Amino acid sequence: MMEATLSRKITVVGAGYVGMSTAQKCAEKNLATTVTLIDVVEGRPQGIALDLNQAAAIEGYTSEVVGTNDPADTRDSDLVIVTAGRPRKPGMSRSDLLEVNGRVMESVATYVREGSPDAVVIVVTNPLDVMVRLMQAKLGFPSRRVIGMAGVLDSARFSWFLAKATETSVKDVDAMVLGAHGDSMVPLPRACTVNGVPASELVDAPTLDALVDRTRHGGAEIVNLLKTGSAFYAPASAAVAMAASVLNDERRLLPCACYLNGQYGVEGVYTGVPAILGRGGVERIVEVALDTQARIQMQKTIGAIQADLDELRKLGLL
Ligand code: LAC
Repeated sequence: MMEATLSRKITVVGAGYVGMSTAQKCAEKNLATTVTLIDVVEGRPQGIALDLNQAAAIEGYTSEVVGTNDPADTRDSDLVIVTAGRPRKPGMSRSDLLEVNGRVMESVATYVREGSPDAVVIVVTNPLDVMVRLMQAKLGFPSRRVIGMAGVLDSARFSWFLAKATETSVKDVDAMVLGAHGDSMVPLPRACTVNGVPASELVDAPTLDALVDRTRHGGAEIVNLLKTGSAFYAPASAAVAMAASVLNDERRLLPCACYLNGQYGVEGVYTGVPAILGRGGVERIVEVALDTQARIQMQKTIGAIQADLDELRKLGLL
């Protein structure tokens, strides 16, 4: 018997560097029949789409990219990846983007709610933990279908730094970073392994501490080098890894910003925790035992997110 052909649609909101890189990776992996790239700037998503479709002649992928400024073209998406919003400039914290990017979430939610009511939504826009909370509130979707990307990115940075420090292949390194996507993030050095070997057996404690510190400021390190804009390749890779786990029901266990409803002793806040991602979105939030230091850091990270949420309320956005 022939298998039914899957017709799938991914919408990528925002055709900045993260959005265009995300659309490219989705197409190259044939993650969907149609990858719709939408932006408010006229011509930009259309131009990127044309370029990516011409690249298909060489790369051989069958996904078609559609560039548009019209929200109606995003209808019936199975998955929406939201990258729209301003990036940081050197010296800015992610929280400095609250108001401007909060308004963007509001307008994106309006058309996603109506046009793609069954979609799983992955938010990439900063400040991540509050933008994903805002997006979920505006969409009114069950929280399992609205997920934030950050832990996969922060863990990837930690993995790369650890691979360099231990002179091992990054392929073998596993790292886990929880909490907010900000300076208060909670890297778990004890969960870092190189093919099962604890990182602490390969590097000394001060080295591991330095890697944790570099991970915390991994985004700013790139912002400072680029001077305009922030990282985009690894953020796009991270979002697409999450998208693949959802669309292909891979059930990968990935650190993602999820809505906590009592887990980790936290209520009503989105932040980075290990989660199993499958076709329904967050299939399960996994609670890992935290040592005292990580528990204290987790409280701090929640405090930082709460402060941003209060700010959003003051702005009348939440
Ligand atoms: C970073 C930005 C995307 O961490 O938050 O690079």
